[in-house]
Amino acid sequence: MIITIDGPAAAGKGTLSSYLAKEYKLAYFDTGMVYRAVGLQMVLTAQDLSDVSQAEKIAKQLTFQQMMELSRHPDFRSDIGGHSASVVSSYPGVRQALLAMQQNFEHNPVYEDGTPARGVVYDGRDTGTVICPQADIKFFVTASPEVRAKRRYKEYVDKGIQTTYDKVLEDVIARDKRDSSRATAPMKPAEDAILVDTSFLNIDEVKSKVIPLIEAKLKNQ
Ligand code: DC
Repeated sequence: MIITIDGPAAAGKGTLSSYLAKEYKLAYFDTGMVYRAVGLQMVLTAQDLSDVSQAEKIAKQLTFQQMMELSRHPDFRSDIGGHSASVVSSYPGVRQALLAMQQNFEHNPVYEDGTPARGVVYDGRDTGTVICPQADIKFFVTASPEVRAKRRYKEYVDKGIQTTYDKVLEDVIARDKRDSSRATAPMKPAEDAILVDTSFLNIDEVKSKVIPLIEAKLKNQ
């Protein structure tokens, strides 16, 4: 089974994707990682983020293993990683170079420990539209920018990262704009995606919306 979960930052995609992967014993591919890996590699090698050809070169050379190694860097999940990912992900050549790695995972899905899995939960911005348009079931998970900024701000505070709510909100809005206005594979729901607005729902409420839909799909397969 292939499930895709797309939507903007801090909408609750990651929590839902991890839960579904565990529940249905599927591998989990957080596709933001490919862009975070390229963005962080640009930062670590002191490249200018606006250098498109350098970003393309790094993307072409990126392997799954290197991505996993970079994911252990403290800035991979920080706003440095998030911002650099958002910038490089707007370059069509970078997206093209990273397409095969994301699509091949469907044919050879593995759990984190490397053992084979029967299917995948893809989490990203374009997984239902571009990476895996043939997915069995697609969700587009969203929430208002204010609610998402509040959640992200709390995560930063919990991690001891110094910032302000206003700065986080500004960043959320800027990222939404960049992610949804780029020419190649902009963030948007697939035509057959089910919209889930998590603004006023906790994770248990989200689960109870989503699980019956997956169960119905499984029954019809
Ligand atoms: O989900 P995330 O915060 O890790 O994503 C980081 C950036 O990567 C995000 O700003 C947009 C980009 N991205 C993308 O363009 N396409 C995807 N499928 C996943 C992420």
